Amino acid sequence: MAYLWTKTFHLLFVIAWMAAVFYLPRILVNLAETRGQPEVQARLLLMGRRLYGFGHAMFGIAVVLGFVLWLGYKFAPGSFPDLVAGMKWMHAKLGLVALLLAYYIVAGRWLKGVAAGRALPSPTTMRWFNELPLLALVPIIYLVLAKPF
Ligand code: HEM
Repeated sequence: MAYLWTKTFHLLFVIAWMAAVFYLPRILVNLAETRGQPEVQARLLLMGRRLYGFGHAMFGIAVVLGFVLWLGYKFAPGSFPDLVAGMKWMHAKLGLVALLLAYYIVAGRWLKGVAAGRALPSPTTMRWFNELPLLALVPIIYLVLAKPF
Protein backbone atom coordinates (compact mmCIF):
# COMPACT_ATOMS: atom_id res chain seq x y z
CA MET A 1 0.00 0.00 0.00
CA ALA A 2 2.70 2.50 1.02
CA TYR A 3 4.45 1.96 -2.32
CA LEU A 4 1.31 2.57 -4.41
CA TRP A 5 0.20 5.61 -2.39
CA THR A 6 3.70 7.07 -2.58
CA LYS A 7 3.72 6.55 -6.35
CA THR A 8 0.22 8.07 -6.63
CA PHE A 9 1.36 11.26 -4.93
CA HIS A 10 4.69 11.21 -6.78
CA LEU A 11 2.75 11.35 -10.05
CA LEU A 12 0.35 14.02 -8.68
CA PHE A 13 3.22 16.38 -7.84
CA VAL A 14 5.11 15.52 -11.05
CA ILE A 15 2.00 16.48 -13.04
CA ALA A 16 1.64 19.75 -11.08
CA TRP A 17 5.31 20.59 -11.70
CA MET A 18 5.03 19.75 -15.39
CA ALA A 19 2.01 22.10 -15.65
CA ALA A 20 4.29 24.92 -14.45
CA VAL A 21 7.14 23.77 -16.74
CA PHE A 22 4.82 24.01 -19.76
CA TYR A 23 2.91 27.15 -18.72
CA LEU A 24 5.76 29.45 -17.63
CA PRO A 25 7.22 29.69 -21.18
CA ARG A 26 3.68 30.39 -22.40
CA ILE A 27 3.65 33.46 -20.17
CA LEU A 28 7.04 34.41 -21.66
CA VAL A 29 5.55 34.15 -25.17
CA ASN A 30 2.76 36.52 -24.08
CA LEU A 31 5.30 38.90 -22.53
CA ALA A 32 7.29 38.89 -25.80
CA GLU A 33 4.07 39.73 -27.69
CA THR A 34 2.88 42.55 -25.38
CA ARG A 35 5.92 44.86 -25.33
CA GLY A 36 4.87 48.47 -24.71
CA GLN A 37 1.70 47.43 -22.79
CA PRO A 38 2.83 48.02 -19.16
CA GLU A 39 -0.43 46.99 -17.48
CA VAL A 40 -0.61 43.68 -19.34
CA GLN A 41 3.10 43.07 -18.66
CA ALA A 42 2.65 43.78 -14.93
CA ARG A 43 -0.18 41.21 -14.74
CA LEU A 44 1.81 38.60 -16.68
CA LEU A 45 4.89 39.17 -14.48
CA LEU A 46 2.80 38.69 -11.32
CA MET A 47 1.30 35.47 -12.72
CA GLY A 48 4.75 34.27 -13.78
CA ARG A 49 6.35 34.93 -10.37
CA ARG A 50 3.57 33.07 -8.54
CA LEU A 51 3.70 30.15 -10.99
CA TYR A 52 7.51 29.92 -10.77
CA GLY A 53 7.37 29.59 -6.96
CA PHE A 54 4.50 27.10 -7.15
CA GLY A 55 6.43 24.96 -9.66
CA HIS A 56 9.51 24.75 -7.45
CA ALA A 57 7.37 23.66 -4.48
CA MET A 58 5.71 20.92 -6.53
CA PHE A 59 9.08 19.75 -7.87
CA GLY A 60 10.53 19.56 -4.36
CA ILE A 61 7.71 17.30 -3.14
CA ALA A 62 7.83 15.13 -6.32
CA VAL A 63 11.58 14.57 -5.81
CA VAL A 64 11.25 13.64 -2.12
CA LEU A 65 8.55 11.09 -3.01
CA GLY A 66 10.72 9.85 -5.91
CA PHE A 67 13.60 9.18 -3.51
CA VAL A 68 11.22 7.37 -1.12
CA LEU A 69 10.11 5.17 -4.05
CA TRP A 70 13.73 4.58 -5.08
CA LEU A 71 15.38 4.03 -1.69
CA GLY A 72 12.39 3.00 0.45
CA TYR A 73 13.40 -0.68 0.24
CA LYS A 74 16.46 0.12 2.40
CA PHE A 75 14.30 1.42 5.28
CA ALA A 76 11.02 -0.48 4.80
CA PRO A 77 11.78 -3.57 2.72
CA GLY A 78 8.30 -4.95 3.50
CA SER A 79 6.60 -1.91 2.01
CA PHE A 80 8.81 -0.89 -0.92
CA PRO A 81 10.28 -3.12 -3.65
CA ASP A 82 13.90 -2.66 -4.83
CA LEU A 83 12.84 -1.15 -8.16
CA VAL A 84 16.25 -0.21 -9.50
CA ALA A 85 18.28 -3.25 -8.39
CA GLY A 86 21.54 -2.06 -9.98
CA MET A 87 19.94 -1.05 -13.27
CA LYS A 88 20.78 2.32 -14.86
CA TRP A 89 17.33 3.60 -15.95
CA MET A 90 17.00 5.62 -12.74
CA HIS A 91 20.28 7.47 -13.38
CA ALA A 92 19.23 8.25 -16.97
CA LYS A 93 15.83 9.43 -15.67
CA LEU A 94 17.45 11.70 -13.07
CA GLY A 95 19.79 13.13 -15.72
CA LEU A 96 16.80 14.10 -17.88
CA VAL A 97 14.91 15.45 -14.85
CA ALA A 98 17.96 17.64 -14.07
CA LEU A 99 17.82 18.95 -17.67
CA LEU A 100 14.12 19.81 -17.20
CA LEU A 101 14.92 21.61 -13.95
CA ALA A 102 17.68 23.61 -15.69
CA TYR A 103 15.18 24.52 -18.43
CA TYR A 104 12.69 25.71 -15.78
CA ILE A 105 15.37 27.85 -14.07
CA VAL A 106 16.31 29.44 -17.43
CA ALA A 107 12.63 30.32 -17.99
CA GLY A 108 12.57 31.83 -14.47
CA ARG A 109 15.72 33.84 -15.24
CA TRP A 110 14.10 35.23 -18.40
CA LEU A 111 11.05 36.23 -16.37
CA LYS A 112 13.24 38.07 -13.85
CA GLY A 113 15.05 39.68 -16.80
CA VAL A 114 11.78 41.13 -18.13
CA ALA A 115 11.01 42.52 -14.66
CA ALA A 116 14.46 44.20 -14.75
CA GLY A 117 13.67 45.72 -18.16
CA ARG A 118 15.65 43.28 -20.33
CA ALA A 119 14.13 42.26 -23.69
CA LEU A 120 13.06 38.69 -24.46
CA PRO A 121 13.92 36.80 -27.66
CA SER A 122 11.23 36.96 -30.39
CA PRO A 123 7.79 35.34 -29.86
CA THR A 124 8.72 32.67 -32.44
CA THR A 125 11.88 31.77 -30.53
CA MET A 126 9.85 31.64 -27.31
CA ARG A 127 7.33 29.27 -28.96
CA TRP A 128 10.11 26.86 -29.97
CA PHE A 129 11.55 27.15 -26.47
CA ASN A 130 8.08 26.19 -25.16
CA GLU A 131 8.19 22.82 -26.99
CA LEU A 132 11.61 21.72 -25.69
CA PRO A 133 10.43 19.97 -22.46
CA LEU A 134 8.80 17.25 -24.57
CA LEU A 135 12.27 16.12 -25.66
CA ALA A 136 13.01 15.16 -22.04
CA LEU A 137 9.55 14.26 -20.75
CA VAL A 138 8.80 11.52 -23.30
CA PRO A 139 12.04 9.56 -22.60
CA ILE A 140 11.57 10.09 -18.81
CA ILE A 141 8.14 8.40 -18.91
CA TYR A 142 9.41 5.62 -21.20
CA LEU A 143 12.46 4.95 -18.98
CA VAL A 144 10.41 4.57 -15.79
CA LEU A 145 7.72 2.41 -17.46
CA ALA A 146 10.01 0.16 -19.54
CA LYS A 147 13.14 0.21 -17.30
CA PRO A 148 15.11 -0.83 -20.43
CA PHE A 149 18.61 -0.92 -18.90
C1 HEM B 1 9.75 14.97 -14.68
C2 HEM B 1 9.92 14.29 -13.61
C3 HEM B 1 9.35 12.90 -13.39
C4 HEM B 1 8.43 12.21 -14.12
C5 HEM B 1 7.67 12.62 -15.38
C6 HEM B 1 8.25 10.92 -13.45
C7 HEM B 1 7.36 9.95 -13.89
C8 HEM B 1 7.12 8.78 -13.21
C9 HEM B 1 6.13 7.78 -13.61
C10 HEM B 1 5.20 7.87 -14.82
C11 HEM B 1 6.18 6.78 -12.70
C12 HEM B 1 5.27 5.50 -12.63
C13 HEM B 1 5.99 4.34 -13.28
C14 HEM B 1 5.29 3.02 -13.09
O1 HEM B 1 4.22 2.94 -12.52
O2 HEM B 1 5.84 2.00 -13.55
C15 HEM B 1 7.23 7.13 -11.78
C16 HEM B 1 7.64 6.32 -10.80
C17 HEM B 1 8.81 6.52 -10.15
N1 HEM B 1 9.59 7.66 -10.13
FE1 HEM B 1 9.30 9.30 -11.16
N2 HEM B 1 9.07 10.86 -12.36
C18 HEM B 1 9.76 12.05 -12.29
C19 HEM B 1 10.71 12.42 -11.38
C20 HEM B 1 11.28 11.51 -10.54
C21 HEM B 1 12.41 11.80 -9.68
C22 HEM B 1 13.10 13.14 -9.59
C23 HEM B 1 12.69 10.61 -9.03
C24 HEM B 1 13.76 10.31 -8.04
C25 HEM B 1 14.27 11.13 -7.23
C26 HEM B 1 11.73 9.62 -9.48
C27 HEM B 1 11.70 8.31 -9.05
C28 HEM B 1 10.70 7.41 -9.35
C29 HEM B 1 10.62 6.04 -8.87
C30 HEM B 1 11.65 5.34 -8.01
C31 HEM B 1 9.44 5.48 -9.35
C32 HEM B 1 8.82 4.07 -9.08
C33 HEM B 1 9.00 3.22 -10.32
C34 HEM B 1 8.13 1.98 -10.24
O3 HEM B 1 7.24 1.91 -9.44
O4 HEM B 1 8.35 1.07 -11.04
N3 HEM B 1 10.89 10.19 -10.39
N4 HEM B 1 7.78 8.34 -12.10
